[in-house]
Amino acid sequence: MLLTHATLATMTGGYGLIRDAAVALDGDRIAWAGPMADLPTAFRTLPEHACQGRLVTPGLIDCHTHAIHAGHRAAEFELRLQGASYAQIAQAGGGILSTVTATRAASQDQLLALALPRIDQLIASGATTVEVKSGYGLTIEDELKMLRAAREIALHRPVTVKTTHLAAHAVPPEFTGDAKGYIEKVALPSLRAAHAEGLVDAVDAFCETIAFSTADLAPLFAEARALDLPVKLHAEQLTDQQGAAFAARHQALSADHLEYLSPDGIAAMAAAGTVAVILPGAFYTLRETQAPPIQALRAAQVPMAVATDLNPGSSPLASLTLAMNLACTLFRLTPEEALLGTTAHAARALGLADRGRIAPGLRADLCIWEADHPAELSYRIGATPLHARIYGGRLDA
Ligand code: NIG
Ligand code: FE
Repeated sequence: MLLTHATLATMTGGYGLIRDAAVALDGDRIAWAGPMADLPTAFRTLPEHACQGRLVTPGLIDCHTHAIHAGHRAAEFELRLQGASYAQIAQAGGGILSTVTATRAASQDQLLALALPRIDQLIASGATTVEVKSGYGLTIEDELKMLRAAREIALHRPVTVKTTHLAAHAVPPEFTGDAKGYIEKVALPSLRAAHAEGLVDAVDAFCETIAFSTADLAPLFAEARALDLPVKLHAEQLTDQQGAAFAARHQALSADHLEYLSPDGIAAMAAAGTVAVILPGAFYTLRETQAPPIQALRAAQVPMAVATDLNPGSSPLASLTLAMNLACTLFRLTPEEALLGTTAHAARALGLADRGRIAPGLRADLCIWEADHPAELSYRIGATPLHARIYGGRLDA
């Protein structure tokens, strides 16, 4: 297929904007992209799809979601509006643990059925690749059940799904006060079992006073290394636990949230090439007032990704374009940084070298937007100006 007369944002060196551009696709790959005037003759006979000036970007990538879960937490939303904090609700047995109760009670099929409408909302906002975490099972079997359900998404929708093991998300009631015991008896064996079943692309954890310390997590990250799995970390969301530096010491793909990130953490991330995943949906939902240190991350040239953090508690947000809008308005990311954050930098946060930009040899995951400039994707609030998408070279209008 040949896309013609496109406004192309290749996301190479910024927007990499090319007006009146063509993109030639060969199977599931991009064969060529550039100005119409330079189109090699070999590609001129391909079946044409005229874009009529519409914006074409790489397919968007949501690199941080908790899309598999049962139940909702609207009652907690009401409690927080009355003044309770996220940490207070968690300490009283609500929060993540209330979703754990609902998720344990659900079957794999039920979890999948609940997730598909959420994935459809992400798809409607331009997602062609979605990361999905476990972390609401917190037993070996329930973590496996979540990861199996996550993997099944790709059998029902054309998106690529990357699965992340997050058994170290909270300490369940049966291990209260014994985070180390939980890591040893549940997190490690569930990781080994899930890896043996081919269900794990990366290992994540929640490093926080209400969850796990870096000392608790050291055996888990050591095991990830032994299994040759990359790590990521929910770090510095509510307090500074020096989680980002710990993650960077383990060559983490990303450290995520980062509102309380210190200069040392930034330096460690820059040195390790760890991506900063910015999650404005959680900041907004929790009415957090301390923004992540965007200007310092920028100055240190730490690549920034933007994701929804789609989850029933801290971020019931199912739109990548709205996440981009929030990142710009709340954190002063530029619209160019926001789009890099859901394309090239999101790919890097997932360790995916084959997507996130429009260049020869990369996977042909593309979005065609009813827009003529890439800043429009961040500028509109909650709009989904998606015209058509292409998954692995196949048009889905
Ligand atoms: O990314 N911070 C920890 N984990 C999730 C929240 C999960 C939940 O509240 O259910 C997050 O914000
Ligand atoms: Fe999260």
